[in-house]
Amino acid sequence: MMAHLWSGRFQGDPDKALLDFGASFRFDRRLFEDDVTGSLAWAEGLQRAGVLGDVDATAIRTALEAIRVRGGDLAFFDSEAAAGDEDVHSFVERELIALAGDAGRRLHTGRSRNEQVAVDLRLYLKRRIPLLQRSIAALIAALVERAELAADALMPSYTHLRRAQPILVAHFFLAHVAPLRRDHKRLSAVLDEIDELPLGSGAIAGTSYGIDVEFLAARLGFSRVVANSVDATGDRDFVASLLHACALSMVHLSRLCEDLILFTSEEFAFLDLDDSAATGSSLMPQKKNPDPLELVRGKSGRVIGRLTGWLATMKGLPIGYSKDLQEDKEALFESEDTLRGSLEAVASVVKGLRIRGDVSARAASGLLLATDVADYLVAKGVPFRDAHEIVGALVRRLVTEERSFGALSEDEWRAHSPLFDPDVVEWVTPASSIGRKRTPQSTHPEMVAAAIREVRGWLDLRS
Ligand code: ARG
Repeated sequence: MMAHLWSGRFQGDPDKALLDFGASFRFDRRLFEDDVTGSLAWAEGLQRAGVLGDVDATAIRTALEAIRVRGGDLAFFDSEAAAGDEDVHSFVERELIALAGDAGRRLHTGRSRNEQVAVDLRLYLKRRIPLLQRSIAALIAALVERAELAADALMPSYTHLRRAQPILVAHFFLAHVAPLRRDHKRLSAVLDEIDELPLGSGAIAGTSYGIDVEFLAARLGFSRVVANSVDATGDRDFVASLLHACALSMVHLSRLCEDLILFTSEEFAFLDLDDSAATGSSLMPQKKNPDPLELVRGKSGRVIGRLTGWLATMKGLPIGYSKDLQEDKEALFESEDTLRGSLEAVASVVKGLRIRGDVSARAASGLLLATDVADYLVAKGVPFRDAHEIVGALVRRLVTEERSFGALSEDEWRAHSPLFDPDVVEWVTPASSIGRKRTPQSTHPEMVAAAIREVRGWLDLRS
């Protein structure tokens, strides 16, 4: 008969195929370090509660430290013995018993894998979320650098993907910084949600040993202890929160990629991809394809899928632990890896972007100055609705004649409104348009410069 964590209860051996089906060691070995950390703390908790004697506690500690070191070698996880381990918790416990014998067999006193996996996941994410935040900050730094390089270059802004109003190219880059800043903050909120120690919950009802959970929380870097043991063993809301944070970040990356795919295309040509960030075609010699950007846009679907899949997994579960919860890990690891890889790929593409300010400025001139023409009339006392009407008629005429404001003679201006004086010509330029913007969030060059300084300051605090 094979030895299992639950051997005492059963008469026969478990079905090998079903054991394999239920095993998670293949992927939850990522939690190895955290399982050792949590186990060391638990041993200390048991010792302080007088459940473990000093000799046993020391033996456990020494063995766990040795196991942690052995984990530096990947072959450790692929031993013949490990092949039979259901998950990372049984792996660490088996290795512990192999090293520490009976002392090792005492560690699981008052503890359950249900709370172990919860504490491991929380410890893991406390380590990993800051790495995601660092990658977000690196992309923000790359975007801000492009904003600085863009200087006073102009481009059209778009609504409905139709030319709207002139903006600084720098303002466009900063527009993509803003959602990434929110992503960074959202991850901090997830870290706060994670910041609760589940140990002491046992399998579901709590533990019968005098464990000082406040001490354990402080020892493991948690600022508080969970409120309810039943909830704590089945709570993976923090996984859903993290998956949501990852999915929304991927949505932001996907939109940035879409903009860069458009603006580096022949049709727009406001930006150029560095050769190192593009791929050629096996057939068409002229092609310079933005593959990495397309791939990030594509991968956003996978991360959104992980979020919706995980919500579906959780929704029917009775409160407390169910094995379904094991599905959390692959969703989490895949989302985390995909987001990090995507952030790094996009940052490296952004770093190579060349700004073709001459082309973008040409596109920022012409009929998209219509709002400015209306504002000119407003400055002369015309109600905005009337000004809109007058300029609308002027635009209609220019569109049929295939001309623009710059081509109008003084008389032609006057024919539309006697209030148009010769100075309208200087008023209706992209540069004067952005110079008239007043609000702090606008594309006025001084506001944009201040926004760049603010982002730089934020980045400095994090480097
Ligand atoms: N591998 C399990 C998981 O990921 C650990 C907890 C198992 N608990 C249990 N009672 N089967 O959720």
